[in-house]
Amino acid sequence: MAVSLKVNGVSRSVPAEPDTPLLYVLRNDLELNGAKFGCGLAQCGACTVLIDGKAVRSCVTPIGTLENSEITTIEGLGSLAKPHALQQAFMEEQAAQCGYCISGMIMSAKELLDRNPRPSEQDVRAALEGNLCRCGTHNRIINAVLRAAQANGRT
Ligand code: FES
Ligand code: FES
Repeated sequence: MAVSLKVNGVSRSVPAEPDTPLLYVLRNDLELNGAKFGCGLAQCGACTVLIDGKAVRSCVTPIGTLENSEITTIEGLGSLAKPHALQQAFMEEQAAQCGYCISGMIMSAKELLDRNPRPSEQDVRAALEGNLCRCGTHNRIINAVLRAAQANGRT
C-alpha cells in the first residue's frame, strides 16, 4: 500500500506498510540519508528529525501516524551554498569528528532554538541530553549551538 507524507515541504507517496519506521522510508525510499541509524531503539538520537516542529526519533515512528504531519530532515534546513545558522556554526566550531551523530544533534538543537532563541549553556545541555556522541565532541557541539543562537540574534 502507499502512504502519503510531507517531507521538507514536498508531498511524497511511499509504497510501504503503515508500521514502517520513518527512518527506513527516509533513507531507503526518499534518498534522504542525513538521519542515521544508530540504535534503532530511541536511545541515541542519531535518527532525529522534526515532526510538526518537535524533535522525534524516526527509528521508532511508524509512517502510518504521519499522514497529516510536516516532516523536516537535515536536508530541509539548508544547503551547501546556503547553510542554516546551525549548520554554519557546527562547521565553524568543527563540531563533527566522525559526523554520525551530527544530523540528530542539529535537529534537536533546531527544536530548542525555535522555542528558546537565547538558550543558556545549561538549556543546550538539557536539550541535547538524549543525543549521544561516541566521538566525545560534546563541548564543541554545545559551543556550536550557542554560536548559532548568537548568529541568529545578529540577523
Ligand atoms: S537510531 Fe533512533 S534513537 Fe538511535
Ligand atoms: S562526531 Fe562521531 S559520534 Fe558524534
